[in-house]
Amino acid sequence: MATNNKISLTRYLVEHQRVHNLIPSDLRLLLEVVARACKGISQAVNKGALGGVLGAAKTENVQGEIQKQLDIIANEVLIEANEWGGHLAAMASEEMEGIYVVPHRYPQGEYLLLFDPLDGSSNVDVNVSIGTIFSVLRKPENNGAGVSEADFLQPGNKQVAAGYCIYGPQTTLVLTVGDGVAMFTLDREQGSFVLTQERLTVPADTKEFAINMSNMRHWDAPVKRYIDECLQGVEGPRGKDFNMRWIASMVADVHRILTRGGIFLYPWDKREPGKPGKLRLMYEANPMGWLVEQAGGAASTGTQRILDVLPTQLHQRVSVILGSRNEVEHVVALHAAAATTDAEPATRAG
Ligand code: AHG
Ligand code: MN
Ligand code: MN
Repeated sequence: MATNNKISLTRYLVEHQRVHNLIPSDLRLLLEVVARACKGISQAVNKGALGGVLGAAKTENVQGEIQKQLDIIANEVLIEANEWGGHLAAMASEEMEGIYVVPHRYPQGEYLLLFDPLDGSSNVDVNVSIGTIFSVLRKPENNGAGVSEADFLQPGNKQVAAGYCIYGPQTTLVLTVGDGVAMFTLDREQGSFVLTQERLTVPADTKEFAINMSNMRHWDAPVKRYIDECLQGVEGPRGKDFNMRWIASMVADVHRILTRGGIFLYPWDKREPGKPGKLRLMYEANPMGWLVEQAGGAASTGTQRILDVLPTQLHQRVSVILGSRNEVEHVVALHAAAATTDAEPATRAG
């Protein structure tokens, strides 16, 4: 195929604005800058040991997790790329306790950017797919007052753009602006992201689940029951054999689901009963939940649509069940059934 037949990310964004009016120029700049930052992160990931970027740093993040060097590098790349363009008011990241307000020496924009700079940190040193997840919100109108953390505390249904970049055998950017999901593959010779799939669709049904089975003894009754039904296979109530995958990088598990369907669960569990889950609402569950919904799937906490959860904290955690629509609805129905059964008291937080 001649190179001029390829649709670059830039051309896609420009043409999408022309036809659908969903991507004003400052949002287009934001998305192009995020994509450029992801190219930089991809370069660092690819160099691996040759670039001296593997291994742990000596610091902990606000979540109490030991940071990897690449967590810190990816965070810095995203901040440096995004702070000067005039499209943002502030940023928030898994790797920063508070928000990062765009310095006064740069113009302030009307968008807020949230990101998980490096998702799947435990896979960095073992050469398994990792990624960057991002979510874009509009800064609420406040008559010229400065930006604060409270401005970020908007539900996922207010996102204006969301996506991720996966650093795997290919580097692939997956994006939504609320009008379906598009996929772009990094062409390293051209140095640009090229549209490789439009209108991604998650099949409504699936025979593949993703969950960390080692936590089984800590799960709530509905999740235990769901997985137990899957494991019974063709002889059980589901009447079909299930396959299992768990990559331990949410980007990679969600990427598979957007490609061929499936269900992903990181539910609340009893290890830390006061926390509503492991994954973070604002920069993991919301962007991934919206992408999956935009591809025809569903995303729930088990009792509520993820995108309708009202955040009260920047680093709030949440139970995540997302993927093929009928499968997610089945898990939600099991939660509803358990809530009405005395034998299964509601013990979970959040
Ligand atoms: P992060 O590397 O950004 O902290 O996120 C890791 C998350 C997610 O990507 C993955 O699904 C999950 O943690 C894996 O957790 P377990 O190691 O408990 O399976
Ligand atoms: Mn993550
Ligand atoms: Mn991370």
